Amino acid sequence: MAKLVKVTHKIPENGVKMLKDAGFDVEVFPEAQPMSHADLLKFVKGADALISLLFDKIDSAVLDAAGSQLKIVANYAVGFDNVDLQAASERKIFVTNTPHPTISDAVAEHTFALMNNLARRIDESDRFVRAGKYKGFDPDLMLGESLEGKIVGIVGLGRIGSEVARHASGGFGMKVLYNDIKRNEEFEATYAAKFEEKIEDLLPKADFVTLHVPLLPATQHLMNKDRFKLMKKSAFLINTSRGPVVEEAALVWALQKKLIAGAGLDVYEFEPKIAKELLAKENVILTPHTASATVEAREAMAEVAAANVIAALKGETPENIINHK
Ligand code: GLV
Ligand code: GLV
Repeated sequence: MAKLVKVTHKIPENGVKMLKDAGFDVEVFPEAQPMSHADLLKFVKGADALISLLFDKIDSAVLDAAGSQLKIVANYAVGFDNVDLQAASERKIFVTNTPHPTISDAVAEHTFALMNNLARRIDESDRFVRAGKYKGFDPDLMLGESLEGKIVGIVGLGRIGSEVARHASGGFGMKVLYNDIKRNEEFEATYAAKFEEKIEDLLPKADFVTLHVPLLPATQHLMNKDRFKLMKKSAFLINTSRGPVVEEAALVWALQKKLIAGAGLDVYEFEPKIAKELLAKENVILTPHTASATVEAREAMAEVAAANVIAALKGETPENIINHK
């Protein structure tokens, strides 16, 4: 009998085709909305492989409901905080994510879209023009600032953080500071980047602080009141990682106290809910968790997820394992 791959939400056709060409049956949940946990428990039954999305909470109950034949949970995302890695390891189930240069490019470009937009007040200007307030050239209107020569503080130097550094030091002429659990001297040489061992030493220097860490117990509320106090008053915070890395109430507080100049956010602590204070601010730019939403990135994600599934179901080791087996 052909192995069965279940997919909790529509993914690009290239991934489904790879799976079918490999001889597997593929069942895609037909609705656009995320399933309830109860429906997920029913849906996964009998799957040899599960392709999950970041809104699916993959816990021990889901793994058990699938059955002991389940070999892999291939998360169709770079982040993987929605999957209980330990529960999967205990059941000898691979968990994989979808890192790929195309996805890192997309997220880094979105990070720059937010940075540039904040620095040049693009959304605010757009609202101004649409409201009929533009009455002719005014040299003092909507003054912003240049990115050139500014310091970007990258928190988390994975693939995405590194791509942000490449864009920053290359095209935009910015200086790069970074903080990570590991120092990377080759990276430093490539981008003339400077390592800050402590985030407390990075925050007071950066004009833009951009977060690229995974969500882990150690990174939850990485940005809290104490850390906002360390930022320059002229600095902007960018978050395209995971919402709970920033304590939302502390961000609202920092904006109200004018401890920072603004924020560009793609993810939210209580997603999809967003604090009304953030919605009301001109100096906050909000996007709906779309940093990786390019056609190219989505197709790359589908390809990587399918390749991980194919390897696991052929008895091989998938490339992007994130749990220890
Ligand atoms: C999106 O947030 C992802 O993790 O791929
Ligand atoms: C994602 O792939 C990262 O390492 O940042």
